[in-house]
Amino acid sequence: MTKVISFINLKGGVAKTTTAVMLADTLAIMGQKRVLVLDLDPQTNATLALIGEERWLAADDAGQTLAQLFLDQVNGTSVFNPARAVIRGASNLNRISHEMMDQLPDGLQYGRVDLLPSSIRLIDVQDRMQDISTRSHYSVSPMKVVRKFVAPLFSAYDYVLIDCPPNLGFVTLNGLEVSDHYLIPTIPDRMSTYGVPQIVNRVADVKVKRGLKISCLGVIITKYQSNSSTQKRGLERLPADLETAFAPHGEPTPPILNTRLPQTNALAEAVIYERKVANYRDKYGTSPVGGQAAYKYGPDLADEIEDLLRFNDLQDSLDLALTPPIAKS
Ligand SMILES: Nc1ncnc2c1ncn2[C@@H]1O[C@H](COP(=O)(O)OP(=O)(O)OP(=O)(O)O)[C@@H](O)[C@H]1O
Ligand SMILES: [Mg+2]
Repeated sequence: MTKVISFINLKGGVAKTTTAVMLADTLAIMGQKRVLVLDLDPQTNATLALIGEERWLAADDAGQTLAQLFLDQVNGTSVFNPARAVIRGASNLNRISHEMMDQLPDGLQYGRVDLLPSSIRLIDVQDRMQDISTRSHYSVSPMKVVRKFVAPLFSAYDYVLIDCPPNLGFVTLNGLEVSDHYLIPTIPDRMSTYGVPQIVNRVADVKVKRGLKISCLGVIITKYQSNSSTQKRGLERLPADLETAFAPHGEPTPPILNTRLPQTNALAEAVIYERKVANYRDKYGTSPVGGQAAYKYGPDLADEIEDLLRFNDLQDSLDLALTPPIAKS
């Protein structure tokens, strides 16, 4: 079954996008999974990392970006066509040409990253959606635009990864609305973890109000520097901070993943689309960092995430089995 995961943190620059793109590549190229990335951030970083500027401009000119989807709601137009907007075979690791993709037998499964791109135009939309939501003729709730128009595509994928902007505005809420889980990437310092309780509170709030099932899958430590005393203190404090944030909502404290993504140019530069890369190892770097080659962190992270998802599924089925049947009257 498709797993939909949002990457969120109120703090900017904590490697949400880098982590989401690396995970997409890892699941698709190393794990042979079908992955769809939704870029909900007007900064378009995930889009540029996955398709480069040329293809992004073509998509933007054709109005086939998620910004256009929201603009359509504001303008009463229907330019955005979800099936057409999906960019198949994104990522510079993709080796299958579009012509070949079209000739593959129907239903053939192979690892691939697809993308629903973003656009800088999403900034304008953000303001206009606020106005429109108060008008009575508005047909789709502003929080349900992605659910209504994009979510029907999800069933063709093993994973949908949503790269969110560093805020909890209505665009991010659209992502949460369709997510099973969220991951919080964070640098383990005070500045970056400061906003975690706000995320937890806000998600818990929308979860109750909108009847969502979303849960926090875990916290990913990014830009980790093992020799930094600030980060060491931050890491020591983090479990208690998380417990304090989650307990009031009756939710279990999510795990801090064991895979800590080290601060290294190899991972930062990996997501530059224009770099010519030979393969996954070449893209994510073979130089040693923190005791292992840089390219090994992606698979370690993906393994942990897949384990957590399996554990969650198991728990859900146990909960279901233990739920007393409703007595018939
Ligand atoms: N492991 C890493 N080591 C060093 N630099 C990194 C690492 N991961 C990401 N970076 C760099 O940190 C910066 C921020 O990363 P990224 O854009 O992924 O963060 P973000 O949380 O998505 O930011 P925003 O909130 O603006 O969307 C980028 O310049 C990126 O190249
Ligand atoms: Mg980002």
